[in-house]
Amino acid sequence: MTDTQVALVTGAGQGIGRGIALKLAADGYDIVVADLDFQAEKAAGVVAEIEALGRRAVFVAADVSKKADVEAAVATALEKLGGFDVIVNNAGIAQVKPILEVTEEELNKIFQINVNSVVYGIQAAAKSFIERGVKGRIISAASIAAIKGFPILGAYSASKFAVRGLTQVAAQELATHGITVNAYGPGIVGTGMWELIDSELSKINGKPLGQNLKENVESIQLGRIETPEDVAGVVSFFASPNAGYVTGQVLLVDGGMLYN
Ligand SMILES: NC(=O)c1ccc[n+]([C@@H]2O[C@H](COP(=O)([O-])OP(=O)(O)OC[C@H]3O[C@@H](n4cnc5c(N)ncnc54)[C@H](O)[C@@H]3O)[C@@H](O)[C@H]2O)c1
Repeated sequence: MTDTQVALVTGAGQGIGRGIALKLAADGYDIVVADLDFQAEKAAGVVAEIEALGRRAVFVAADVSKKADVEAAVATALEKLGGFDVIVNNAGIAQVKPILEVTEEELNKIFQINVNSVVYGIQAAAKSFIERGVKGRIISAASIAAIKGFPILGAYSASKFAVRGLTQVAAQELATHGITVNAYGPGIVGTGMWELIDSELSKINGKPLGQNLKENVESIQLGRIETPEDVAGVVSFFASPNAGYVTGQVLLVDGGMLYN
């Protein structure tokens, strides 16, 4: 790596995004920690953890469903950290609802946050990479739900299928610039997202809190719940020289739940 390698990670205030930010910092990147304004305190903690690893970091308040916010976050990387080489379009939300009950507002919201954001991230990153002649890396959050549709996660599954489609398209359109575009597909990671899924599922099927998570974890071949660090290892690979010839892929990191 050259001196200043900078990665921008969205949704980095907690969960998988935090794990990715810390791993990339350990790999030697300076990090833009992007998250919603209300996560500023948690994000400040992540910034401090990165600085403790000897790297530089800044927090930028950004709502990834807004194109201007994503563009501003990219600009922050260049202005405050002096470079921009990797974007991780990680921020996302889940919705747990039977398809017959999903409202127009809910559908719009999940697509704005999970899909539009990835388009904005690809656009802002690629524009900056091309202008500066950087063979950058674009890495986005897919899911096992990008490969198989999961009941009661209909809108979520559709949004992650869309991330997979966008990854394939952008990989082909940007290859001529030496930019690679890939996505990671976690299974069941013990974050705030799964706390929400578990509690919403229990409202629907009456199982006690924690039971749905437990049953889902039992279906994992490697026999344990996934950690943000498990996911971060794959993102680290995609960002590294080892992945220079990998593009357009969704790499499942799910402990052996799905096989494609
Ligand atoms: N947890 C899992 O089991 C799992 C599995 C597969 C894929 N994923 C994907 O991984 C990604 C991260 O999930 P997580 O489990 O860490 O979730 P999380 O809910 O723990 O964290 C998500 C982060 O994204 C931020 N965020 C939400 N909306 C945002 C917006 N509009 N703009 C900016 N930031 C926003 C939140 O503030 C939060 O810090 C998501 O895209 C998710 O779909 C998670």
